[in-house]
Amino acid sequence: MTIAPSAHCPPPIAPVPAPRGLFGRGREWVALARLLDQVEAGHSATLVLHGDLGAGKTTLLRHLQDHATGWRVVRTEGLEAARAVRLGGLRRLVGLGPHAPGAALTDRLARAALREPVLCIVDDAHWLDRESLCALAEAAWAIPHAAPVAMVFAHSAPGGLDALIGLREMAVGGLAERDARVLLRSVLPCPLDARVEDRIVARTAGNALALSELARWQAPDTLADALERCAPPDLADLIAASYRRRIERLPAITRRLLTMAAVDPCADPARVWSAARPLGANAAAVAAANAAGILEFGHDLRFHHPLARAAALDAATAQERHEAYRALRAVPV
Ligand SMILES: Nc1ncnc2c1ncn2[C@@H]1O[C@H](COP(=O)(O)OP(=O)(O)OP(=O)(O)O)[C@@H](O)[C@H]1O
Ligand SMILES: [Mg+2]
Repeated sequence: MTIAPSAHCPPPIAPVPAPRGLFGRGREWVALARLLDQVEAGHSATLVLHGDLGAGKTTLLRHLQDHATGWRVVRTEGLEAARAVRLGGLRRLVGLGPHAPGAALTDRLARAALREPVLCIVDDAHWLDRESLCALAEAAWAIPHAAPVAMVFAHSAPGGLDALIGLREMAVGGLAERDARVLLRSVLPCPLDARVEDRIVARTAGNALALSELARWQAPDTLADALERCAPPDLADLIAASYRRRIERLPAITRRLLTMAAVDPCADPARVWSAARPLGANAAAVAAANAAGILEFGHDLRFHHPLARAAALDAATAQERHEAYRALRAVPV
């Protein structure tokens, strides 16, 4: 089901300007901003964003979260490395505070909504463990009968996700050509040769991750050649290789830190830091991972993209991954 203006969605009261730093996405932004309007008007609203890897779903969700000032934002995400961890997605849920064991998610959201408007964001739903996805989907169905809450899911499962079937959907496709050019230019330090730019824009088909990630880290004409070598280009492969090349050039201690961050199923910065420090990790190791565009490590532990996490795992030997697990397990809870 694709979103269309309907009797259930009131028209926006005023044109909704797109946030700064978000190129294009006028249609998608209007639909997201409208969700918040609906909740403020006392109705629940749910939307499932789906689109190819790197299309720009997480970016939309981040802008939505920033836009929701005065809202309680509850969020979780699927993690490839933790897909088999039962209820891991619910354990990673932040923003709802402590809860009584066994308390149903719908009740917790409804209780929170008594105090302030609630926006629940579920990113990378295709990597959630089954139990967490089902509980979140159940909450999406039940919440309209309990309290006005906005719930937004994002996933890139090509065939859709069974648990979310029937919820309102919106496809996030490639950026329009004009916006793709703006994004590409925004990540480059100097203007591109027009023909090289045309080739990159044509071959990346508006994929935001490819546009922002690939051109930043390699010579544009080399990139244009690489994109043209296969038809259609496997963007995920090219992006993963770009992360991998950068990881391989990092100092050994930064790579160890990355391996630990990548294997931690909870993406818990304090735990990873406690495990990595005795092995020599320091601020410089963190700064190197950040400067290479692989990992942001502070209050949150955030890989630039799930492909960066996968590349970090891939770049480590089995022995290094095992050591990383062992160091994490040794951290007192
Ligand atoms: N509309 C946009 N304007 C500017 N930059 C964007 C836009 N959309 C995405 N980007 C950039 O592209 C990169 C990839 O986007 P994003 O991570 O949102 O994709 P995604 O659809 O969530 O990918 P995945 O399916 O792999 O999770 C981001 O790092 C962001 O910098
Ligand atoms: Mg994403």
